[in-house]
Amino acid sequence: MDFQLTEEQLAVQAAAREFARAELLPGVIERDEHQTFPKEQIKKLGALGFLGMMVDPKYGGSGMDAVSYVLAMEEISKIDASVSVCMSVNNSLVCWGLETFGNEEQKQKYLPRLAKGEIIGAFCLSEPEAGSDATSQRTTAIDMGDHYLVNGTKNWITNGNSASVYLVIAQTHAEKGHKGINALIVEKGMEGFVVGKKENKMGIRASDTHSLMFTDVKVPKVNRIGEDGFGFSFAMQTLNGGRIGIASQALGIASGAYELALQYSTERKAFGKALSEHQDIQFKLADMATQIDASRLLCLKAAYLKDQHKEYSTASAMAKLFSSKTAMWVTTEAVQIHGGYGYVKEFHVERLMRDAKITQIYEGTSEIQKIVISRELLKK
Ligand code: CAA
Repeated sequence: MDFQLTEEQLAVQAAAREFARAELLPGVIERDEHQTFPKEQIKKLGALGFLGMMVDPKYGGSGMDAVSYVLAMEEISKIDASVSVCMSVNNSLVCWGLETFGNEEQKQKYLPRLAKGEIIGAFCLSEPEAGSDATSQRTTAIDMGDHYLVNGTKNWITNGNSASVYLVIAQTHAEKGHKGINALIVEKGMEGFVVGKKENKMGIRASDTHSLMFTDVKVPKVNRIGEDGFGFSFAMQTLNGGRIGIASQALGIASGAYELALQYSTERKAFGKALSEHQDIQFKLADMATQIDASRLLCLKAAYLKDQHKEYSTASAMAKLFSSKTAMWVTTEAVQIHGGYGYVKEFHVERLMRDAKITQIYEGTSEIQKIVISRELLKK
């Protein structure tokens, strides 16, 4: 087993780290406080190739592997998880979904601009009454011959206002259940498509989370991804990869908080010596580092399997389940090590602790990951 990263992977990691420190760290506290979407930062991230990392260069992407994607997601998430959620959705849900399942015309039309970050995309599955229970889609896409008529509401959509392209999951043949669902490419500006309220969130506050309303939106049939009824399978397969992105985000939130706590523990003195000289703190740091390393290995394993075109749905669910738990636990410990300073904004760890929580909720709650994993175990 080779744990060595290639020179190219190390270069991607270093570039992401440098970008995060130079471009994301300044202003991250203010953007979180005022819920300011990092528009300029996202543009720069796109120009560097981080928004279409795995897209084939012939469609304007960077042609990198999923391992590089994990490395970059970790570095960006250490500093700004509001940026990394946008990066994750654009890379692994929108670009990957379109490149893998879209037809040539759809790829030519949308991928180059999405991959370069000239426009960004959103993935629209969740509804007011269909979160974890994703087969219960209420949004309808009625077949009108040359187009679908879309009606319904989507909730908690990342990039909801800032996206230009939306992959919308909707029910066409209710009697067929999940086999009657379609995935449609909806463009901003289509008549009847309205961006609803922005969510005022606990964490990832600078990310752009909205509800979306569709009233008799005419979506051309050429905008359907795959065969009639492929939409649910499209969503599930796309989410399998998306979970590697969110697992890596959780990993980055954890390792970012750990690095801050480690640094702080060597600087802060209590009872006549540095915190890091107290055994209780040393034990905490050792546990944190061990959990983070285990999370990183799970993320890299899932990415490696994906790169090798092997089955990775269980590995990605395990990576997300474990890394999100690690993020919540490590960030809480990091706040504890910082004491009172950890509870105020200047030291970053309180933000990371708030950001960590969403990784246990979106792209499938922890309970959903356990369903995905246990079904595979019981199949065997
Ligand atoms: N990979 C591929 N196919 C899958 C799959 C997976 N992980 N999970 C289920 N499927 C397939 C099944 O094989 C089945 O297909 P067939 O009928 O052809 O065999 C079909 O999907 C239906 O599966 P189930 O009968 O198992 O359906 P279910 O209703 O019992 O459970 C579920 C499905 C796994 C719980 C699913 O609903 C699910 O994953 N829910 C979570 C949804 C989710 O992750 N939402 C996140 C929103 S996106 C987001 O958060 C993005 C963002 O903005 C950050």
